[in-house]
Amino acid sequence: MQDRNGSFPTTSLSRQALAPIYADLAAGRISRAEALDRIVALRRAPAAIRTPLVVASPMWSASSRGALVSRRWTERRVLLLDIGSSTALTTLLPAGQVETLELPSAGDPPARYAALAAECLQRVQAMLASRPSGDVLFQVVVSEGDTEALQAGVAGLLRTATRENPRFKGQVVFVRGDATAAAIAQQLEQAQAHGDEAVMRFERGTQPMGLRWRPAPASISVAPFPYREHGSYLITGGLGGLGRLFARDILSNTQHARVILTGRQASSGDSEPRLAALQAIGGQRVSYVSLDLDDAAQVQRLIDTQTRDGHRLHGILHAAGMTADSFILKKSADELANVLAPKVRGTWLLDRATRDLDLDFFALFSSVASVFGNVGQADYAAANGFLDEFATWRQKQVALGNRRGRTVSIAWPLWAEGGMRLPEAHDPAIAALTGDPLSTEDGLHAFRIALASPSPRCMVLAGDGAAAGLTDGTATAARSADGTRQDAEGDPAQWLDKARDVLRRVFASVLKIEATRLGWDTPLDRFGIDSIVAMRLTAEIEKEFGPQSKTLLFEYRSIDDLAHYLVASYPARLQALVSAGRQTRSRAAAPIVPARPVRTAAPVAAPAAVGAAPSRFEPIAIVGLSGRYPGARDLETFWANLRDGVDCVVEVPADRWDWREYYSEGRTATGRHYSRWGGFIEGVDEFDPQFFNIAPREARQIDPQERLFLQHAWMAIEDAGYTRAALSAGGDV
Ligand SMILES: NC(=O)c1ccc[n+]([C@@H]2O[C@H](COP(=O)([O-])OP(=O)(O)OC[C@H]3O[C@@H](n4cnc5c(N)ncnc54)[C@H](OP(=O)(O)O)[C@@H]3O)[C@@H](O)[C@H]2O)c1
Repeated sequence: MQDRNGSFPTTSLSRQALAPIYADLAAGRISRAEALDRIVALRRAPAAIRTPLVVASPMWSASSRGALVSRRWTERRVLLLDIGSSTALTTLLPAGQVETLELPSAGDPPARYAALAAECLQRVQAMLASRPSGDVLFQVVVSEGDTEALQAGVAGLLRTATRENPRFKGQVVFVRGDATAAAIAQQLEQAQAHGDEAVMRFERGTQPMGLRWRPAPASISVAPFPYREHGSYLITGGLGGLGRLFARDILSNTQHARVILTGRQASSGDSEPRLAALQAIGGQRVSYVSLDLDDAAQVQRLIDTQTRDGHRLHGILHAAGMTADSFILKKSADELANVLAPKVRGTWLLDRATRDLDLDFFALFSSVASVFGNVGQADYAAANGFLDEFATWRQKQVALGNRRGRTVSIAWPLWAEGGMRLPEAHDPAIAALTGDPLSTEDGLHAFRIALASPSPRCMVLAGDGAAAGLTDGTATAARSADGTRQDAEGDPAQWLDKARDVLRRVFASVLKIEATRLGWDTPLDRFGIDSIVAMRLTAEIEKEFGPQSKTLLFEYRSIDDLAHYLVASYPARLQALVSAGRQTRSRAAAPIVPARPVRTAAPVAAPAAVGAAPSRFEPIAIVGLSGRYPGARDLETFWANLRDGVDCVVEVPADRWDWREYYSEGRTATGRHYSRWGGFIEGVDEFDPQFFNIAPREARQIDPQERLFLQHAWMAIEDAGYTRAALSAGGDV
């Protein structure tokens, strides 16, 4: 299998990683296109092929963090849920800090969970929006009893809030349903000294406990293949990235096992080639059912149909899920509800519909986002947090004889070949905790270990960095902010100048604008700062001032506003910078701005070394792309079409011309065409002349190809990350 240059795409990949792909190809289990797809994905993440692989589970351990973390909170809020003694408690805790929340009916745990997550989101948003000047604490008090414990899943949302703003600390504190108000009040006081523990409980009422992750014991016996030869397996989200990998694993390693895939999309359209690829391996053994997991009747019908006439369902792989990434400050209640739906109500409905079945396992695909939090993914972290708590709950139901089959929620890291990708504005700290992207081979093996492990919750980490995730698996933020403002002696006017200098240097280097062109009062939104640029700017500011809110750039209006914030928060650090500047004043340290703007994210050829022979070729960096093709309005769709082998030749669309009027069987007839098929570009008539300062009448005279060219030239510049400000700042673009 060769790429279009005729070479084999193996250069940076190990034989071990490629072997399963070539084996699948040789055995006819996958098409050449699919094989190339998998290789390209591996190539994008070559580190994925490294080991070691760690499958870990959480255990309650005595928390000693209190000795290390002692804070004065500038704000503290306590949210009490379904705690019998809540009225008495409100009198025991400081006035104004405590709030009791009435959740919807006890008979509907997913509705209660969604309501709690929405309430938490609102309160966290308010706390973050107040731009806290010191550390703030939000404690959610959850009763340990039965389905009430599911509420602890919101810890993922709280961890995300800490990732987005290190001044925020959130805790879920478990209390016994029969604990007295005085005992709970005392536990909450104690818990705040352990502000970095995201989930806590108290053993024998007094010993603070936190969750610690331990690798699965080496002694567990892992089945080489956890599926039955004649088994039936339901994979929700089955045509997603992971669903297909697991389906392929089952189908290609058995002769008779059946796989039922579900998703919301119809089996036609985008899903069709994916399903066809699996049917090429499993034939009639693969089926697809289109349904929304949020719909109780549809879920019940699915299970009834699959278990009719004495048929058995042996395992469930609940892989349905979605993301809608945005910072907490910008997240809407609707986004939260949509992201929660397949994992919260979907899980609950699947469980209800299968509660009487003799399952071998019920496996839930969770994410490390619930364990560590992840910038932009508060809703997704809460959705996966529910899966984790649900697994613990269902495991208890199995012990009580109310359910059958092993339950496990697996917190996956990023898969090299999965469908979901990291959020655009992702935090590199997470990658440092979770290790390398998981190769398919490792992921499938980790699944077998997780099924064999006794714990209802597992987390998978891979690669050399995996150990970091284990040691810091409970910390709400790897780099906790030092919330205490350190006062300093010095001249505040000099601090302000220094803060402005630092910010000007940071903005100039990230935005590629000459520092002298940056106005103090220019509204930051003029610079066209999106979430990715905001993360880069914040990362640079953090290098000087330590952990910052990831929404800093959206919280302050101008460089000057930001400079005043730095003066108010970091006088000691600014004084140190002023002093250091005095000592080195003789050494010029003017910011160097490239004469020609270049997008930093794109690979740029290194400048030739001084004295090196001049090259015949001028290095060219492609920093932005845009294009439109038949059947594809943009490059992403074009790539997807290529990948999925979509035929983009269609019958002449009616809005172009009626082909019947010009059609002729004879190939030589003048003014006629003998084919009614062609590749047509959509939207050739869509053009906004005013955007390009062209008179509408003139625009009508321009060749449509030229208009398209103009539009895509503009989009390529946008794609390259140039803002209007950057363009007008000069440089020969
Ligand atoms: N890929 C990774 O690296 C990774 C890492 C950590 C965790 N995970 C977890 O693993 C699971 C699978 O990931 P993936 O990469 O395969 O994701 P994916 O490619 O986005 O597939 C998820 C599938 O879920 C289906 N879905 C979403 N909402 C649904 C709903 N309400 N009802 C029914 N189906 C729904 C979607 O199909 P329709 O659009 O047709 O509904 C989609 O095909 C996810 O739950 C994810 O959270 C993945």
